[in-house]
Amino acid sequence: MELVVRTVTRPELDKAVEVEEKAMKGSGYLRDVSELFLSDEVGPLLGAYKDGEELVGIAKYTVLADHTAWLETLRVAPEYQRQGVGRRLYEEFQKLSREKGVESMAMYTGLKNIPSYSLARVFGLDTAGRYREYQLDLAGVAMPADAGDFRPVGEDEAVELLMALKEKYEGFVIFNRTFMRINEPVIRQLAKEGKVLRDEATGSVMAFGNRFLEKRSVQIAMMGGDYDKCIAWAVKVGLEKGVPQVVTEVPLDDEALGQVFVDHGFKAAAELQVMSGPAC
Ligand SMILES: CC(C)(COP(=O)(O)OP(=O)(O)OC[C@H]1O[C@@H](n2cnc3c(N)ncnc32)[C@H](O)[C@@H]1OP(=O)(O)O)[C@@H](O)C(=O)NCCC(=O)NCCS
Repeated sequence: MELVVRTVTRPELDKAVEVEEKAMKGSGYLRDVSELFLSDEVGPLLGAYKDGEELVGIAKYTVLADHTAWLETLRVAPEYQRQGVGRRLYEEFQKLSREKGVESMAMYTGLKNIPSYSLARVFGLDTAGRYREYQLDLAGVAMPADAGDFRPVGEDEAVELLMALKEKYEGFVIFNRTFMRINEPVIRQLAKEGKVLRDEATGSVMAFGNRFLEKRSVQIAMMGGDYDKCIAWAVKVGLEKGVPQVVTEVPLDDEALGQVFVDHGFKAAAELQVMSGPAC
C-alpha cells in the first residue's frame, strides 16, 4: 500500500472522526478536542492517506511543557490494520522530533492493548508506569457540606507542593489520560493554568482541572493532605459545572489510595500504562 502522511486539514475532520469511530468502536473523542488539535501550531494532527487520497490512519503529535513528545489519538481503520500504517505514523513522529530537537517521547495505552503496546516496543518505548482509573458518577450525588477552600498557588509554591508528591504518584501527573512527568517545567505550566490548588486550613494540595474535554469530567490529577477534603472539592466543582463524572488515576500498586476513592463511591475503571523512550 502506498502511504502519504501529511497534516489533516479542517475540512477533513469528519473523515478523521470516521477513522477514529471505526478504530475505537464509537468511544472516541476527536471531535470534542478537534479545535485544540487543529489550532496547535507546534504539533500537527497527522493523517496517513492510502495512495495519497483515502484517510486510513490518524495520530496527534503534541509537545508537552517539558519538551517531551506526547503521541496521542493514534488510530488505524480496522480494515487497514497490520499493514504498516501505525509504523509509518511513528516514523513521522520521529522525524518531527528530530526537526524540533525533541529527545524523549511517551504515550499511554490500555494494559491489555497488545497491538498498541507492541507497536510502541518496536520504536523503543517501554512501560514507565501502570495506573488504574477511578470514576465517580455524579448523578444523584449531594453537594458536599464542607469542601474546604482550595485556591490556585503560584509557580514556586506549586513546585514545592507537587514535587513532595512525586514518589506517591510514581512520577506522573495525569489529566485526561495525558501522562506528564512530574518535573519543574510541567508543574510551572500547570500552576500558570491555575491547576495547582491548596486549601490553607488543612494544608491539602491538588492538581485539579482538565487538559481538555471539560464537559465530560473534572480530573483529580494528584492530591495530598486531607483526602476527604480534596474529593469533596472535586465533587463540588463537578456538580457546579454540571459534568457527569469526577475522574482520577492511581498507581496500580497503591491499593490504599485506590481504596480511598472506592470508599467515596468511585468505581475502578480502565487499567492503563504509560510508555516512554527516546524520541528518535
Ligand atoms: C495500535 C494500532 C494503531 C496499530 O496500528 P497498525 O497500523 O495496525 O500497526 P502496524 O501494521 O504498523 O504494526 C507495526 C508493528 O506493530 C506490532 N503490532 C501491530 N499490531 C499488532 C498486533 N495486533 N499484535 C501484535 N503486534 C502488533 C507488530 O510488531 C507490527 O509489525 P509486524 O506487522 O511487522 O509484525 C491499531 O491496531 C489501532 O488503531 N488500534 C485501535 C486503536 C488503538 O488501540 N490505538 C492505540 C492508542 S490507545
